[in-house]
Amino acid sequence: MSQAKTQREAKRQLGQFLTPPDVAKAIVAKLPIRIDEMVLEPSFGTGAFLFALRDKLAQTHSAEEMALWTKTRVEGCELDEKAYALFRAQWGEAGQCIQGDFFRFWMPTYDKRRYFSEITPRYDWVIGNPPFGGTIEPELQDRLDGLYGFRHGRKIKKETYAFFIIKSLDLLKPGGRLVFICSDTLLSINTMRGLRDYLLDTCAVSVERLPGLFDETQQPMVVLSLTKGGAGLTVFGNVLARELVDSTPNASWLITPTLSRYFTGPVLGDFVVATSGMTVGRNELFLRELRNGQIEEPYAFSFAERPITLALRQSQARLGVLSSAQVRKIQAQEQAGETEACLTVVKREVPLSLPFPHPDYALYNKAVSALVYAPPTHVIYWKDDGRAVYTFKKTGPWYLHGVGGKPYFGREGITWQLISSRLNVRYLPPGYILDSGAPCAFLRPGVHPDELFFIMGWCLTDICNVILKTVINHTRNIQSKDFERLPYPTWVSPESKRDIIAFVKRLLVRARDGVRFHHDSPELRMLDDWFACESESPGNAILSQSHTPKHAQQLTLALECV
Ligand SMILES: C[S@@+](CC[C@H](N)C(=O)[O-])C[C@H]1O[C@@H](n2cnc3c(N)ncnc32)[C@H](O)[C@@H]1O
Repeated sequence: MSQAKTQREAKRQLGQFLTPPDVAKAIVAKLPIRIDEMVLEPSFGTGAFLFALRDKLAQTHSAEEMALWTKTRVEGCELDEKAYALFRAQWGEAGQCIQGDFFRFWMPTYDKRRYFSEITPRYDWVIGNPPFGGTIEPELQDRLDGLYGFRHGRKIKKETYAFFIIKSLDLLKPGGRLVFICSDTLLSINTMRGLRDYLLDTCAVSVERLPGLFDETQQPMVVLSLTKGGAGLTVFGNVLARELVDSTPNASWLITPTLSRYFTGPVLGDFVVATSGMTVGRNELFLRELRNGQIEEPYAFSFAERPITLALRQSQARLGVLSSAQVRKIQAQEQAGETEACLTVVKREVPLSLPFPHPDYALYNKAVSALVYAPPTHVIYWKDDGRAVYTFKKTGPWYLHGVGGKPYFGREGITWQLISSRLNVRYLPPGYILDSGAPCAFLRPGVHPDELFFIMGWCLTDICNVILKTVINHTRNIQSKDFERLPYPTWVSPESKRDIIAFVKRLLVRARDGVRFHHDSPELRMLDDWFACESESPGNAILSQSHTPKHAQQLTLALECV
């Protein structure tokens, strides 16, 4: 690895994105900190916040007062030796700003039963920018999960910034304030729901935009401000009632009064089950592009038996660790001389050229940006119902041997790109093996088949996309569970629903005939009106029940268009 790459990797593992001094200064400038208050910076990097704090207080206090402050009022730690050395070179006397791991700092015990009685809230302020996506020492992971991984009945995601917030709150005095720069993933993603709930239960919360830009990361950040023991939520200047947040399936902090009217009825998950597909492991071994109905196959596949050994299983285990029960079982298998099938792949001297359809290959649903429909682009080697792929997955050098979405392989549904700024939704014909880059949704048992087209129409609207990308999950990913959390359009009248279904089916026929739709296509934008929720009062689920002349006119127009 090049030195630059090693350095980047080390920074990534530390979750190290240093705050530009101007940004730290702008944040600190607004804080009413007094010189007699105790401050903690739990991961101070090269000290952006500590210097900003010191400079601010020094404007109104003498050198002696500042020396005392440095010695007795400000505390913190930083894991990275290099960052710490840079900090020390400028800070002078370290006082209580040490090099070390915050998860070990002020840690009376890792025993959950004693932790809460022994940890002492000692700070008036906790200020900083905790590591985002950093690695927690393997030895500490489970113990920290025990202490911070569950609060008020909900899971707190094992993420460095989440655990930093929880521990910092434990160390904060009642009425004290925590001010952190943190990833904006906190605001909506479902895995941070437990943290959001806990913060609303225990603090007054305010979220503001970052006063400046970061050089070291593209990850959008916000300034999170908590007052321990307070109540209320303000996001980007808007006061949000708790009921509004709780009305969303993910307790989203990006809900607005206008959008809340959509969250009064069922969600798409009541009608469809959405799922991710599989990660093949090494696509080039099994996936083939379809070119003019032909497949080029460069490999020959065969199976061999290999002995099951403890060494083999250890090399495959998460963190190389197996439970004692697993070890006993494997040792017994080893002693009994048990074997398992593994796959051998050999490159052919001359690739085979095969026509598709072919009994050894199945269609493969790769993500594409097309709307409504896309012709197949890939197939997967699927002889004997995918034996080669399953064997490869089961015996390969990774921790997760499972195959995502397997029960849904071959079913008719709808699908979209996992990573996209919008739902690029399209019909998935029966017969496909599913890829993790293109999640899919399938009707639940007993749901009328036409619902698929109604839901697809809804997903093509602007408002559905706004709801998805603000309230549900504003990051780049559109996970299967995000899809299930979207509101189901109960407000559409039965007549409009019937028309929409007919319309979407006709769009599909056109798309299969080769018409390419895009988000600005007039046909798709007509769906916006059809699905508009006409309720004026937020929180009121009723919506237009009328099959208005406007709709009838639109239908005629729309059908003419297609
Ligand atoms: C996002 S950076 C911010 C640094 C500094 N607070 C700032 O604003 O510039 C996070 C810092 O946390 C440090 N860090 C990561 N894990 C840590 C841990 N367990 N204890 C203390 N510091 C840690 C990283 O080395 C990195 O310097």
